[in-house]
Amino acid sequence: MTEVVVVTDYDVLADVYEWLISDAKLPPAEFAASFEDVLRLLPSNAHVLDCSCGTGQLAVGLAGRGIQVVATDASDAMVRRTAELAEEFGASVRAVRASWEELPGHFEDGTFDMVFCVGNSLHHAEGARGRVAALESMSRLLRPGGRLVLTSRTWELVRARGSRLDIGDRLVRRNGRDALVVYRWDIAPNWEDEHHIEIAIAQVDAAGSVLVRSELLSCWPYRYEELEVELHRAGLRPEVSTFDREAENYLVVSSKV
Ligand SMILES: C[S@@+](CC[C@H](N)C(=O)[O-])C[C@H]1O[C@@H](n2cnc3c(N)ncnc32)[C@H](O)[C@@H]1O
Repeated sequence: MTEVVVVTDYDVLADVYEWLISDAKLPPAEFAASFEDVLRLLPSNAHVLDCSCGTGQLAVGLAGRGIQVVATDASDAMVRRTAELAEEFGASVRAVRASWEELPGHFEDGTFDMVFCVGNSLHHAEGARGRVAALESMSRLLRPGGRLVLTSRTWELVRARGSRLDIGDRLVRRNGRDALVVYRWDIAPNWEDEHHIEIAIAQVDAAGSVLVRSELLSCWPYRYEELEVELHRAGLRPEVSTFDREAENYLVVSSKV
């Protein structure tokens, strides 16, 4: 019998994801420190979920602060990399493969004091319906008064720029290797349509050969006003927002009603 290997989005990018992470987010302690203001709101002995953990820098950084951390992601390869990073740093992180929709099957309602969904993840939820379902899953897992910490790219800006190619203007060096990173933005006519981002990482080795890894990712953008309404629908009340339509990214902290 042939074994069926299921490849989900990010399974290819997982291997080269560090070339996509900014210098500031690469060290786990620094990534966690960038959320200092919200981490102050946690009780002692807090339980935290990072539910689109990627390669685990945030989860490992949080665990390094003595927080009890669970890290989940839809991609097997991302979960494996998170577990490897935790081992490398001697951090205690439980890493579980679960999409947002699958979270309630893994954890009791009200388990966590804080849930993180950061680094441009939520746009991978399929349209408004998928987004609300994802937010509802995250909301269920929060205790009353617990908080969802969400960061997002400002899609108002991205859509205004239209379809385009962003070619890195310098090589990114990670693990002693240089790579050029290219983003191809495929902006659909309407907000609610499926959009695509193709990401290619071209690694150049010392002998001059080039190894390209690329993935075509689907995403469904949203306006900030829609996100606010959807958070309310999921039983979350936005408390803090840095949304500014001229800035590339924003943070929204919402509390579970
Ligand atoms: C841009 S990466 C961000 C990763 C990490 N949070 C960071 O800041 O570097 C988006 C992540 O969302 C995950 N993702 C995509 N669809 C998902 C889903 N339905 N449920 C959970 N995670 C998902 C991807 O596998 C990927 O790791």
